[in-house]
Parts: sequence; structure tokens; C-alpha cells
Amino acid sequence: MKVVELFGGIGAIRKAYINSKIPFEIVDYVEIDKNCVKSYNALFNENYEPRSVCNYSLPDKKIDLLMHGSPCQDFSRIGEKLGGKKGSGTRSSLLFETIRIIEEKQDKPRLVIWENVKGVLDKNMRTSFFYYLKEMKRLGYETKYEILNSMNFGIPLRFYVSTL
Ligand SMILES: C[S@@+](CC[C@H](N)C(=O)[O-])C[C@H]1O[C@@H](n2cnc3c(N)ncnc32)[C@H](O)[C@@H]1O
Repeated sequence: MKVVELFGGIGAIRKAYINSKIPFEIVDYVEIDKNCVKSYNALFNENYEPRSVCNYSLPDKKIDLLMHGSPCQDFSRIGEKLGGKKGSGTRSSLLFETIRIIEEKQDKPRLVIWENVKGVLDKNMRTSFFYYLKEMKRLGYETKYEILNSMNFGIPLRFYVSTL
């Protein structure tokens, strides 16, 4: 699996790959927070610099899996619930940068996994999520989503998987 991690944080996804013993190669990692990048580099012996997904383009290489755990604060039930409407400028609206990034690549990743919080399905939030699904369909993906109980996996994440 050749993997790109957008909003890569401290690399929980990479750690999950390691734990599950699935062979993988990280093609690229994008994260804006310098302390996250520092942790990631220390954990995985890498040398990435902080950078933003805004204006980012995928490398001209084959990519099997694109991971994007975009910011959840504005969808979260314990936040201000600003939402993630495209173009709204909220942190959660960065979700739509991923759509741009995929759209710009001719040889699209076969799989896309988005992880986020349960709140994206709340009545006042889900318009953004359904718009995301619509955009993924437009790009040729079939998407399945599920709320997972992290207790059953030992990890505090939820996944939404799209396949081409
Ligand atoms: C929900 S967390 C993802 C956590 C990640 N899955 C991990 O394993 O740590 C969202 C991440 O997006 C990062 N982020 C926020 N804005 C960003 C941007 N413009 N470009 C890249 N990363 C960004 C945050 O710093 C944060 O680490």
C-alpha cells in the first residue's frame, strides 16, 4: 500500500498500519502543526517540515490510499458547532481541500479514508458531510461510512472509506 497522510498529526494512522502488520509505504505526509510534525518525525524517524494542505498537490506517483483526518472541532458536539461548509473558512471546512487535491490528480488514489467525529452526522452538521459524499461520488468514488466504537479497536478514531 502506498499511502499519503493529509492532516497527518502524530501519525495514528501510520501506527495502525504498523500494528496491523499490513505492508505499506508512506509516500507523503502533510501537517501544519510544528509540534505534531516534530513528534511524527521522532516516532517514525522522518524529516518532514510543517506545511498546509492549502495549495498542496499530490506527488506524481502512484497512490493506493489517501488518509485525511481533517479538523473536527467545528463538527464536534463539545465545540462551538460552526460546521464545515465549503468556503466558510472554518477549520472543519478544510475537508474540502482534500476534494480539490484528489480532483487535481489524474491517477486518483484507489482508496480514501476520512476519519472524524460522530457530530458530522448531527442534524445541523450533516449537510457538509453529505456534500462531501456527493463530491466523492462526482470524482468516481463509492463511499461507505460507519460510526465505530473506538472501545472495540483500542483507538479513538472513526473511519469513512471511499473506493474508486
Ligand atoms: C483530527 S487531527 C488528525 C489527527 C491525526 N489523524 C493523528 O494521527 O494525529 C487534524 C489535524 O489537522 C491538522 N491541520 C489543521 N489545519 C491544517 C492545514 N491547513 N494543513 C495541514 N494540517 C492541518 C491539525 O494540526 C491536526 O493535527
